[in-house]
Amino acid sequence: MSELAHGTLAGLAEIDDTGRDARRGGYSRHLWQNADLELRAWFAERAGRLGLGVETDRNGNLWAWWGEPGPDAVVTGSHLDSVPGGGAYDGPLGVVSALEAVARLQASGFTPSRPCAVLVFAEEEGSRFGIACLGSRLLTGGIDADRARALVDADGITLADSARRAGLEPAHLGADPNALARIGLFIELHVEQGRGLVDLGRPVAVASSILAHGRWRLTVTGQGNHAGATPMPGRRDPLVAAARAIVAVQDAALNHPGSRATVGRLEVVPGGTNVIASSVHAWLDARAPSDSETRALVAGIEEAAIAAVAVNGCSVAVTEESWTGTVTFDPDLVGRFRAVLGGSRVPALPTGAGHDAGVLAASVPSAMLFVRNPTGVSHSPEEFAEVADCVAGIDALETLLRSLL
Ligand code: GLV
Ligand code: MN
Ligand code: MN
Repeated sequence: MSELAHGTLAGLAEIDDTGRDARRGGYSRHLWQNADLELRAWFAERAGRLGLGVETDRNGNLWAWWGEPGPDAVVTGSHLDSVPGGGAYDGPLGVVSALEAVARLQASGFTPSRPCAVLVFAEEEGSRFGIACLGSRLLTGGIDADRARALVDADGITLADSARRAGLEPAHLGADPNALARIGLFIELHVEQGRGLVDLGRPVAVASSILAHGRWRLTVTGQGNHAGATPMPGRRDPLVAAARAIVAVQDAALNHPGSRATVGRLEVVPGGTNVIASSVHAWLDARAPSDSETRALVAGIEEAAIAAVAVNGCSVAVTEESWTGTVTFDPDLVGRFRAVLGGSRVPALPTGAGHDAGVLAASVPSAMLFVRNPTGVSHSPEEFAEVADCVAGIDALETLLRSLL
């Protein structure tokens, strides 16, 4: 990304080396771990250079205020954390674009008539504590604070402990109506995570909706035993059973047009080469256009998984870990933004990806801009956006801020 170092996207170039994951490829930037802490410090420094006043709220979200904080503020931003082995654009593009749009307004001598802030949400991907959009859920009261405090990471560290180590007061985690009340309107710019804009031949879109989605843990239980001493007939191997269940997950989604179901993470217990596992945790991510379709999909998966694991003499328990209903962004706002940005030249596109803007939409007027991704790939190092399209995204964000401020 060195060719960007002196351009509009200098911010992306500045964090290009932060959190690179040599083993997985791409970036692993997880809440309050080294890379995330470096990114937070980078954000504070960058925002400080623009004269913005940076604060961390009770839930670890970062706010950079242009002028005095709220109420009725126009707030824009995204997140800096990533999935394991993620791309460079998912999250950071929205943060860098927000800072750049503010910088441009300042440079043009523009004086806002409403408060304005750049907002960075904590743990959007849920990669450390398992719940996506954790920062926005906490802010809006979308997750019970006690439940959040008790979440544990892969090393058994609770969210409460890691928050304390990051300098937050764990008892203060949770709904923050005063912070939320400052937001008059939230805009999140994001790299597109599909091929909608590629197919339409356009650089920028406004988001129309987000699929309903959630995460479930499937715990498959069998009989742990010795890999050499246990004959093949009669084994109750939960990993073989989980493999059958995963095929059932795929088949269930194929039978529900428009839906998606994925198992992207497994934990094999105890996890030894010469050990038949005793249990396997498989995390299911399921999504569909409506809440009821998603619920029906998951109910079908549970039934199919029970039958699939029984072939190997195993059982399975399904636990819901998070849920987000379908988000339909306010059609009036979508229409207004498209009109400001050039009407039919800026399409309205749905997405299957979850976003903090989707969580916020239940509480405050919220909208999203998407920037074309020529690979159509995301949550992978192949995620990409051309500089010219990123600049078109910043142009669009600047235009919206100018019209709103
Ligand atoms: C976040 O990117 C999600 O859709 O899981
Ligand atoms: Mn993502
Ligand atoms: Mn994202």
